[in-house]
Amino acid sequence: MGSLTFITSSLLLFFFFFLLSPPTTIRADDPYRFFTWKVTYGDIWPAGVKQQGILINGMFPGPQIDAVTNDNLIINVFNYLPEPFLISWNGLYQRRNSWQDGVLGTNCPIPPGKNFTYVLQVKDQIGSYFYFPSVAFHKAAGGFGGIRIFSRPMIPVPFPPPAGDYTLLVGDWYKAHHGSLKWMLDNGQKLPFPDALLINGRGWNGNTFTVDQGKTYRFRISNVGLENCINIRFQGHLMKLVEVEGSHTLQNMYSSLDVCLGQSMSVLVTANQPPRDYYIATSTRFSKPVITTTSILHYSNSWSSPVGPVPGGPTDQIGFGINQARSIRWNLTASGPRPNPQGSYHYGMVKTTRTIRLANSAAWINGKQRYAVNGVSFYQPDTPLKLADYYKIPVFQPGSMPDSPSYGSGYMQTSVMAANFRDYVEIVFENYEDTVQSWHIDGYSFWVVGMDGGQWTWASRNNYNLRDAVNRVTLQVFPRSWTAIYMPLDNVGMWNVRSENWARQYLGQQFYLRVYSPANSWRDENPIPKNALLCGWARGRRTRPL
Ligand SMILES: *[C@@H]1O[C@H](CO)[C@@H](O)[C@H](O)[C@H]1NC(C)=O
Ligand SMILES: *[C@@H]1O[C@H](CO)[C@@H](O)[C@H](O)[C@H]1NC(C)=O
Repeated sequence: MGSLTFITSSLLLFFFFFLLSPPTTIRADDPYRFFTWKVTYGDIWPAGVKQQGILINGMFPGPQIDAVTNDNLIINVFNYLPEPFLISWNGLYQRRNSWQDGVLGTNCPIPPGKNFTYVLQVKDQIGSYFYFPSVAFHKAAGGFGGIRIFSRPMIPVPFPPPAGDYTLLVGDWYKAHHGSLKWMLDNGQKLPFPDALLINGRGWNGNTFTVDQGKTYRFRISNVGLENCINIRFQGHLMKLVEVEGSHTLQNMYSSLDVCLGQSMSVLVTANQPPRDYYIATSTRFSKPVITTTSILHYSNSWSSPVGPVPGGPTDQIGFGINQARSIRWNLTASGPRPNPQGSYHYGMVKTTRTIRLANSAAWINGKQRYAVNGVSFYQPDTPLKLADYYKIPVFQPGSMPDSPSYGSGYMQTSVMAANFRDYVEIVFENYEDTVQSWHIDGYSFWVVGMDGGQWTWASRNNYNLRDAVNRVTLQVFPRSWTAIYMPLDNVGMWNVRSENWARQYLGQQFYLRVYSPANSWRDENPIPKNALLCGWARGRRTRPL
């Protein structure tokens, strides 16, 4: 009798704790950082002509977010544009929290004159990332900025503190208004080649980075562009690669580095050359024509400008790129966000439970240029899929995204791939086109276990790197090549899988991965935020019971 009471009361306690207690969306013990962002249109001159740019607190690019592992970021975004607006986070994992992802499949855009407060925790994360505007081709007008997540003070970092920590947001740029670019895409046209390449929103020699002779500096390079991979060189200096999207890498030296769309990496550069100024040169990669831009690396004791020529980038098409990408490996003894060695998790020993093959294609649908994944060109309904899922509004079918390529002509669909929480998947990205591809998966990082030219086969697995492949959030697939990843599905939610080529993303080369747990527990996924904006068929619903 007594023990039965005990069991009943512990069951009650269990229910009380896990079902009735208020959800903890943010952890009280970790610090908070508050941001208030005002988004406006303003005049900018990045490529020599006046353009309408998107400013955040008057800035182009937007302000940098600096955080420490596990910080809570409370970012209140006020939209002063005359149209809907939304910001997304390239590379923040947002554990259990796809509610804050800021893409049209998870969030309603912020209406003009309204605001939305993002509540994010950078749980168990370090490294270099960026944020960007995710709707209406706004990315072509600015609204992006850098994100740096520093290690906590007690966690060892595998290199001495640098004398400076600079962010280089590199990206191709159009002189055309972003609305005209959007109009072209909406009308089924391809975009022309971009007009310029920018570093931190400026063209030729528009930035100066000052260094003291003999000291070492960290440069965080992100490709925030729309169409092109870039390559970067520091004239007369080598770059020591130390971090790629949250992973400390083997510290190899490079004279030039490819950074594809959406990718971020940190290099250390030591000012060990005769005191003068040098070019930091960056150019588009795998493109015809090649466009180049420069910034100045200025020695504080220098009296002379850079001496030409501007160092050129690699010109071969694939071999150099694949070899370099494969040389980027995980340092198994360096710490990550936690002190335990990264290598203690043997990603290569875990058996995968599912193989997904994804092929990109250019499709011509209803007389318009579209892009597709496995033959499906994503169609965005008015109701964000995450909200539709929550309110059980039937705007999509889980399983509407096939697991392997189809070779017919493309079709439009609100494509959602169904996946189980805790599955361990192998995803092979197959590129049968002549252009380099860049893919990003929100809410996740993954190991890039293999890449090669030609067609992937079962035998390709024999050459996977199952030991020290880099763990990152954005991958490239070279022309007529493949790239394979391993990814543990440890984050419940509705996650965007997309091309980082912005015209392709806009015209359908994306879908959503619905990682589902039948437990339906707050331990696996946060409840809907109280302040969630509701639109489409979700308009007028409640985020909390009466
Ligand atoms: C808008 O900002 C106010 C504070 O100025 C805040 O209380 C409110 O929650 C914000 N709205 C949303 C939807 O986050
Ligand atoms: C890996 O990290 C360790 C310790 O953090 C460092 O001492 C070592 O030099 C790094 N190894 C390489 C090859 O970069």
